[in-house]
Amino acid sequence: MPSRLVCFNPSCARQFPIDAVLYECPACGGLTAVDNDFNQADASLWKRTWDERRLSREPLDVSGVWRFREMLPFVEDPAHVVTIREGNTPLFDALPAASYAGVDALQLKHQGYNPSGSFKDNGMTAGATQARRLGMQRVACVSTGNTSASMAAYAASAGMQAVIFLPHGKIAYGKLAQALEFGALTVQVEANFDQILALVRELAARIGIYLLNSVNPFRIEGQKSIVIEMLDQRNWVVPDWIVLPGGNLGNVSALGKGLRELYQIGAISKLPRIAVVQAAGSAPFHEYFERGFQAPFRPVRSPETLATAIRIGDPVSWPKAQFEIESCQGVVASATEQEIADAKAIVGRCGFGCEPASAATVAGLKNLVAAGTIPADADVVGILTGHLLKDPDYVYHYHTGGLTAPDGTKLQPTFGNAPVVMPNDAAKIAQLLESQ
Ligand code: F0G
Repeated sequence: MPSRLVCFNPSCARQFPIDAVLYECPACGGLTAVDNDFNQADASLWKRTWDERRLSREPLDVSGVWRFREMLPFVEDPAHVVTIREGNTPLFDALPAASYAGVDALQLKHQGYNPSGSFKDNGMTAGATQARRLGMQRVACVSTGNTSASMAAYAASAGMQAVIFLPHGKIAYGKLAQALEFGALTVQVEANFDQILALVRELAARIGIYLLNSVNPFRIEGQKSIVIEMLDQRNWVVPDWIVLPGGNLGNVSALGKGLRELYQIGAISKLPRIAVVQAAGSAPFHEYFERGFQAPFRPVRSPETLATAIRIGDPVSWPKAQFEIESCQGVVASATEQEIADAKAIVGRCGFGCEPASAATVAGLKNLVAAGTIPADADVVGILTGHLLKDPDYVYHYHTGGLTAPDGTKLQPTFGNAPVVMPNDAAKIAQLLESQ
């Protein structure tokens, strides 16, 4: 058996078969994780195989997740794989963002170029694959928007029913639109993400729906591919730092695990340091880090941020995230609403843009450089998690000076680019163009 489920709590560490439906350990309540047996791994052979697959037209080879399937050995029958051509996301050189953040060079891996427009697709293909293997007809999630958009897309593709729970009124329209269009049963609950997740975990156990939140360990397996593909794109040159936003802390758990496994099989010779960035109004993990990870972990009861994707106060995956940050000597930072908004506009100036939560990456990097944690000459890769068009309202309001932070503060359109309204008059428009 190449993979099994284990309890992530080191003082328990119970093992379970890979096809057990478990989001938490029945003995101690700890998170579950997939434990892979890489004893037979051959890193140089695998890298060659991954290169060769780039010439293939087979759906599994074309996927930017399943091209690296040796790293996801939990799949025993390739017919179970549900793929919509996820991954294959670009690694951009981002000069405007580099000079804004104060580093000599910066690469941004843009996960918004996934089929549903966010990094969730890398994980969801693996979660949906496990759902199909288990014969599930119905899958469910609670989401700040991107998980639900992604799950709805995969469920539609696999012929499963998608049930989605969203915090009412606190989700960007681009994401809600995707869920509706993909045919998901969409339930808007008058509660925040943390409260709804507790509710849905109870419901999943009671009525037997398969939960595809990042408490599902197979989601984490798929998301590992973000770093595998990024290192492949860099010809396996390991950066000094990887910077990413943190909400429920599934992504840092996944990226950290992927890096450790690549190191274990000898595909890379060192671990990069990871920096997680939270929005200042929803930053329990940052506060915990600042306290030297001294127990207890203290959730934020009323998390707030306009970056609704990371408006999370009680992230379920914090034990895994802590383990990964400690394993790579990583750090946790935060960024204010104004810092996120301005960084986002700068990412736009690079010619691709991103959604607000993703801009926490660049805002946090700037803060870490200013604090001396990340040197200006460091080799840095930032992860952009979602597409610009996920949240067009935010963009419009920023550029027209109408963005107000949750505490009522008006945000400055520091890099605003408001549209100019002109009469239907050639002379006046010519005058405008000449003056620019
Ligand atoms: N960036 C974006 C665009 C997200 O949608 C999320 C999470 C994150 C960052 C944070 O990642 O939770 O793994 O730490 N969105 C989830 C959702 C919670 O429901 O779509 P994380």
